[in-house]
Formats: sequence, C-alpha cells, structure tokens
Amino acid sequence: MATHRNYSKWLLLVLLLGLSASSLGLRQKRQDDEGEGDGNEDQSIDELCKDRPPDEYFRLTTSGDCRDVVRCDKAGENLKTRLAGVRCPNGLAFDIERQTCDWKTNVKNCKELEKPRKVLPILKTDEPICPEGKLSCGNGECIEKELFCNDKPDCKDESDENACSVETDPNRAPDCDPTQCVLPDCFCSADGTRIPGNIEPNQVPQMITITFNGAINVDNTDLYDEIFNGQRQNPNGCQIRGTFFMSHKYSNYASVQDLHRRGHEIAMFSLTHKDEPKYWTGGSYDDWLAEMAGGRLIVERFANITDGSIIGVRAPYLRVGGNKQFEMMADQYFVYDASITAPLGRVPIRVGGNKQFEMMADQYFVYDASITAPLGRVPIWPYTLYFRMPHKCNGNAQNCPSRSHPIWEMVMNELDRRDDPTFDESLPGCHMVDSCSNIQTGDQFARLLRHNFNRHFSTNRAPLGLHFHASWLKSKKEFKEELIKFIEEMLDRNDVYFVTMLQVIQWMQNPTELTSLRDFQEWKEKCDVKGQPYCSLPNPCPLTTRELPGQTIRLFTCMECPNNYPWILDPTGDGFSAK
Ligand SMILES: *[C@@H]1O[C@H](CO)[C@@H](O)[C@H](O)[C@H]1NC(C)=O
Repeated sequence: MATHRNYSKWLLLVLLLGLSASSLGLRQKRQDDEGEGDGNEDQSIDELCKDRPPDEYFRLTTSGDCRDVVRCDKAGENLKTRLAGVRCPNGLAFDIERQTCDWKTNVKNCKELEKPRKVLPILKTDEPICPEGKLSCGNGECIEKELFCNDKPDCKDESDENACSVETDPNRAPDCDPTQCVLPDCFCSADGTRIPGNIEPNQVPQMITITFNGAINVDNTDLYDEIFNGQRQNPNGCQIRGTFFMSHKYSNYASVQDLHRRGHEIAMFSLTHKDEPKYWTGGSYDDWLAEMAGGRLIVERFANITDGSIIGVRAPYLRVGGNKQFEMMADQYFVYDASITAPLGRVPIRVGGNKQFEMMADQYFVYDASITAPLGRVPIWPYTLYFRMPHKCNGNAQNCPSRSHPIWEMVMNELDRRDDPTFDESLPGCHMVDSCSNIQTGDQFARLLRHNFNRHFSTNRAPLGLHFHASWLKSKKEFKEELIKFIEEMLDRNDVYFVTMLQVIQWMQNPTELTSLRDFQEWKEKCDVKGQPYCSLPNPCPLTTRELPGQTIRLFTCMECPNNYPWILDPTGDGFSAK
C-alpha cells in the first residue's frame, strides 16, 4: 500500500507542479509562435518541424529529467504548425527510440534529441511519380515496388529500406478483411478485440495461459511439479496445462520429456538464448532458422518428442525478428509466435479529468496525448498475420512483421501492473509478470492476478497470459503460494480453463460455448495422465563442443548420449559434417 501513497504524491506533483512547470516552457513557444510580427520564431518552429512525422515525439533539450517531449501538430486553426507537449509521470522517462514512457532505468537515450533520421522514399504523392508497379526512392529514382523492404538497399540513397514498418512497408499485409479471413485458418478483427465465432462474452471460457521461459532443469522442475501436480483439473475434468518456451543450454531433456508426456506444451525460446538483444532484432533468416528449427531438432531428439507438437516460438527478450523470423517459421511449419506485445495504452500518462484540460487550455496547450486507446483497455485476442496486425508495434524494438504470414500471433496483452485498480493512474504495462517491478509482496501479486483476470473476464474474455521466469516465482515463497491459491480459486468456478497455447488455437478454430465445452474433443487429449516418467535414471552425458571452447556441459537425456554438446552448427551433436 505504501506504493499507492507514493503514486498519489507524484500525481499531485505532476498535476500541480509538473505540468505547470512544463507549460511555462511550452507557453513560451506558443506565444512566440503567435507573436505578432516576429516571423523568426515562426520560422524556427517550421524549421524544427520540417520533414518531421507528425506522430513522432522529440526533445527540445537534453537537460532536465528526460520526461518532456513534443511533437509537431499541424492541425490547429489556419494549419499553423505548433508543438504539442507530453510529460511522463514522475519516475519515468521518455524513450525516444521506442516513443513511449518507461521506467527511468530502462531509458538509455536521454542524451538524444530525436530518433535518428533516415532518407525516406517518396511514397505518398497526389499524382504517381513513377510508372505503374514502381515507387519512388527519396532521390526520385523509380524502382520496382517489390524491391522495397527486402533487406537489400536498391535505391542509390538506400531509402527503400527506411520505411518498412507495419504501417509504411509498401508490400505490407492488407488491413483485416473479415470476408476474406475466415476460421479455422484465418482470424482477424479491425481493433483486435472481437471474439471468434461472435460468441456472447458470457458463453466464452476464460482461458488462462501460464507460460515459462528458459531452460528446464533441476532449478525449476520442483516448481512445475508443484503447480501442475496432477490433482488440479479444469472444469472438463482434464488436468490444467502450461506452455514451456525452452532454451537449450542447461536443459534436462528427461524433465522436458516428462512435461511433454504429461500433456504440457513444449515450445521454442531458442537454442542459444544469446544475451544480445540486437542479435535477435537484427537476426538473419539463417540465424532464426538455426535458433528455432535447429533448437527444435535438439529437443525432439533428446526429449524423444516425435509427435510434431513443437509448433510455437517466443523470441528471447521478446525481440521479434521482423519478416525474416516469420518467413522462417512458415517454411519450417511453426504455427504460432508468442512474442508480440500489445500495449495497455498509447502513451502511459494519467489523464487528470476536467482539471487537466482546463489547465491546458489556460496554459495554451494544444493537444493531449494521454487518453489511452482503446479507452476501456479491452484486451486483444490472438490473431493470424495474413492481415495487418490490429495494434501498434510499440515494444519489440519496433520490428514486428509487416508482411502477410500464415502464422498465429498469440499476442501478449500487457498486464495492468496496478495492484489496486480503484487507484486511477496509468503506469506502463508489463508483459512478463516479473517485469512488473512494482510487485514486491505476495499481497500485491495476488491483487495483480485478480485485477487482470477481471479486466479480461468482464470484457471480451480474451485469453489471459501469465508469463513467468521460474526464478521470479521461486524468489519468494509467497509468490508461488499466491499463484497456487489463485489457480485453485479459479478452478472453483466453472468458466475458467488453464490451457496451452495450442489449446487456445484449437478453441479459436472451433469456438465452442461454455455449455458444450465439457465435451470439446480437442481438449480431451492426454486428459488425465498418470504413471511414471519414461526413465528414472537419465544418462548424464558430460559433453563439449568446439563451438563453446573450454566448457563441459551435462546433457541429461533418456536417449543415448551424442558425441558432442549439441550447439548451433551441430544441433544433433553428431559432429561437424565435412564441408
Ligand atoms: C521414443 O519414442 C518412441 C515413439 O513414441 C518410442 O517408441 C520409443 O520407445 C521412445 N524411446 C525412448 C528411449 O524413450
């Protein structure tokens, strides 16, 4: 509760001191802007705003506390350009690269005034300037439309690779067309919030997906055994399930094999889990191939998973690899990605009601950018990527896929990190539960769970994702206890199911009302698994690979030991093929 009091304090600060202080600076600008006869100042705003996208925030200064940014607003009366300001709440700073407020420690670019600017192609013109099928580079050169955003500069000024976002790629996926996009293979809706099959919300099961990221081994299997103890059952009588996005290094394949035997879903979190976020954002097709398809080869072999059930991918650090990642996935028969985050709100700033807007008008503010859309914070359902994604790509280092891909996106709705929803303020959402850094006690965690459950349950019942690193849940005994308490409380209802990602897709492909869900066949597989693991004494293979010089790593498996520790160039561990 102490945190609340702190937040109340910053609220006051923001509203009384903060905004009025910043308004002084902006009022100055605004007056200059309108200053009679003083054309110079006008010019400087025009200059400042020349060629600047209207939705891009930038800093006027790098001194100060990194909370204030402005953007160029051309809308006003007589289409004069003005600066519209935004200030992040206390404790947060504005990240220029990602264009959002975030905790101060996460923001590394306070010394930069603006996003680095690149030469842009000339895509929007009243009259086409190139022959049909071609588009104009920044320098007026015309090249084939297909050459834009293919990861290879084709324009002399290289501008063809500089406008490739979900909104700007000339070869981007089209907007959702519900007449073309039909289940079971395609699902989309304009704002992402529509329920599949148009089922009434009160007939939709509230699905909850518990997922874990990282290696599976002796450090965490006790936790998994406690949560998924075989006694806890969904309303259809089948055991509750989780999804494990696993990385290879240090994983124990006997444990992986047993989780799979018990009906949990194994999915890929990569082979190396290299701790260089840029490697993932900038990874080539072959990098993604080696990491995800190569990683899957290792898991299938050493956990003896032969049923083709490893179909999901989550990018390390949630650093999505753009179109290349998704092209690789389609080629390799992956079915879904679970790394794209949907923001809670656009710019996470508290809206102060009428008082704020009265003040803004008094102080010559032009524009407020803090009302979050969608206003009710309705969560988003998973969607397929045949059509354009229905929300902004604001996390994920902005590298969401712009093209059409036959892949499901099991979107991660950010959690509302407030542990008390009656306290009306906006903080940035968090995608992994452990990134909700304000959650310090079991009580706070318990309230966070219930508040976010209600947010989903009382709106469109989009699946609620609870994404963990095992180490966080184990860091305090009360976290684990509260999670188990929450699960049992939910299972006492008859409308909540703890399911895997694949089970969510199965339901969406065949939307079934709660009243007939007990007989939903797709959810009956491995319904109530009993019995013992395949092997009680796995081979503890001590292995090396010339790819990791000086390291000996134990690979536990019920299968035979390979010759080498499987790694990126040698995923079977058989040795390097002569090349
Ligand atoms: C591996 O799986 C196959 C097919 O499920 C099974 O026949 C075989 O006995 C398993 N091998 C081991 C060593 O577990």
